[in-house]
Amino acid sequence: MKILITGSTGQLGAETVKLLEDVVPSERKLLNLENPEKIYEILDRIKPSMIINCAAMTDVDACQVNKERAYNVNALSPSIMANYAIKNNIKIVHFSTDFVFNGETGNYSEDSIPDPINYYGTSKIMGDMAIETVPNHLIIRTSGVYGVKNNFPVVVYKRLKEGKEVRVIDSYYSPIHSKNLAKATVELIKNNYNGRINISGERISRKDFALKIADFFRLDPSRILESQEFSGQVAKRPRDSSLNIDQARSVLNWDFYSVKSNLSLMDIKNLSL
Ligand SMILES: NC(=O)c1ccc[n+]([C@@H]2O[C@H](COP(=O)([O-])OP(=O)(O)OC[C@H]3O[C@@H](n4cnc5c(N)ncnc54)[C@H](OP(=O)(O)O)[C@@H]3O)[C@@H](O)[C@H]2O)c1
Repeated sequence: MKILITGSTGQLGAETVKLLEDVVPSERKLLNLENPEKIYEILDRIKPSMIINCAAMTDVDACQVNKERAYNVNALSPSIMANYAIKNNIKIVHFSTDFVFNGETGNYSEDSIPDPINYYGTSKIMGDMAIETVPNHLIIRTSGVYGVKNNFPVVVYKRLKEGKEVRVIDSYYSPIHSKNLAKATVELIKNNYNGRINISGERISRKDFALKIADFFRLDPSRILESQEFSGQVAKRPRDSSLNIDQARSVLNWDFYSVKSNLSLMDIKNLSL
């Protein structure tokens, strides 16, 4: 077995690499998804017996501004990996996003119809469709992945710790820590799970999540303020992109979803303030 894990410097990739053996971790230096024309040849040189594609262009505003780059990384590159997987009869594991939905209803199941409202979501759904052509594929759709990067829970923690105000948008999603997502991914792979499955945290508003962060880390919640409008963002965001995790809860027998289980994995000692 030789497992190629792309995006090994990212939140999910770095955690997934730690949980598997016989891994070839791949960074941008080895496999740059902005140059899709070289991908097949590089894969042919590595000859993986499984691909776990954790790489993606995840900056939603950057995708809106640089659509060609987002297309190459999130849509075209997965389609070339899919071709390689089909021709070599290997498994491919890929990650999708709650941002493939328009956010009008929330609680999206594995069968809900995508309707992206920004280019990140559009490019990711094109990638998903290519991966679905591989007979042995697993697509894990997730939401609000957090870990070491400066994303919502990290920013909330840092700002409250520094006594600063936190403004949160009145919106819902299903955040999960990258360690829980990686553990669930590896368990699904080991159980030979195929097809599409939602793996995320439980549905929560950003305001309630911020309040829970304050409570969990014993910080002052009075500086958390809710606002109705997205400001300073180029791309539109879905208002409620939460995912339904009933299927995952019936397959995985441990708590990957609760806010407490996920917040307890935050490595606050290593966050630079
Ligand atoms: N983050 C979220 O909130 C979220 C929500 C839903 C779904 N997802 C999906 O979950 C998966 C993992 O996300 P994540 O949070 O781990 O993302 P991340 O922390 O942003 O990591 C992305 C990884 O992709 C790599 N990458 C980006 N552009 C590349 C390129 N041109 N060539 C090669 N590698 C490139 C990055 O490398 P560098 O370090 O060199 O940039 C990094 O290793 C992605 O498929 C994402 O779409 C994420």
